[in-house]
Amino acid sequence: MTTSRPAHADQPEHVRTTRAFYDAIAEDYAETFRDLSAAMPLDRALLAGFAELVGEGAPVADVGCGPGRVTGFLASRGLDVHGVDLSESMLAIARRENPGLRFEQGSMFALDLPDGSLAGLVSWYSTIHTPPEDLPAVYAEFRRVLAPGGHLLVAFQMGDEPRRHVHPWGHPVSLDFRRMRPEQVAELLEEAGFALVQRTVREPDARQGEPTPQASLIARVPGERQAS
Ligand SMILES: C[S@@+](CC[C@H](N)C(=O)[O-])C[C@H]1O[C@@H](n2cnc3c(N)ncnc32)[C@H](O)[C@@H]1O
Repeated sequence: MTTSRPAHADQPEHVRTTRAFYDAIAEDYAETFRDLSAAMPLDRALLAGFAELVGEGAPVADVGCGPGRVTGFLASRGLDVHGVDLSESMLAIARRENPGLRFEQGSMFALDLPDGSLAGLVSWYSTIHTPPEDLPAVYAEFRRVLAPGGHLLVAFQMGDEPRRHVHPWGHPVSLDFRRMRPEQVAELLEEAGFALVQRTVREPDARQGEPTPQASLIARVPGERQAS
């Protein structure tokens, strides 16, 4: 008799822990961070600028999309965007809250996308659970799926030490939220073959409960985009 193993059985321990964490907290997370509300005008401006840079109708992936609030916002700005996430519970919410958009289960370490198939990729606070030594593999994967002239946007909390979230909303799960320095991420992106376009640091917004400054980088794959 053969026994089938779940598809995620071969994933590294930190990926399995992250998936279990977000499966457990998905509904509470989605309720708390429901949309990119008017209270976050600077984040929305950054994402709207990214959408303009990439161009209307361009194929984009929101990797680590969670409940799909960024996916929905980018779709409202005219992008042909789909979401990818580890967590099936997050994906169920994303599909429920964004009818008509496509959301697929997958890992940023091995995206189910052909080489050079995207004009844009957004990682909005989704690399923050990846150990620093594994980030080069993730950025190489982002680089692989982006076409020449394609743009990457990564957002993350700025800092040095991780912050461990223990039993959020009372769920029996815990996870490290890692922080990075923008210059560290810029260096890794350049090593992966990206050219840096913009780096921004926003001060923490106490109304959103943010304990640290928030960083984002936009980087571009060298070359010109082919007209489709
Ligand atoms: C802090 S949440 C951010 C969600 C969403 N981008 C947002 O802003 O609401 C991090 C998300 O990244 C996903 N994630 C973490 N590691 C991932 C990986 N290796 N591949 C795909 N998704 C991942 C988690 O499942 C979670 O939904």
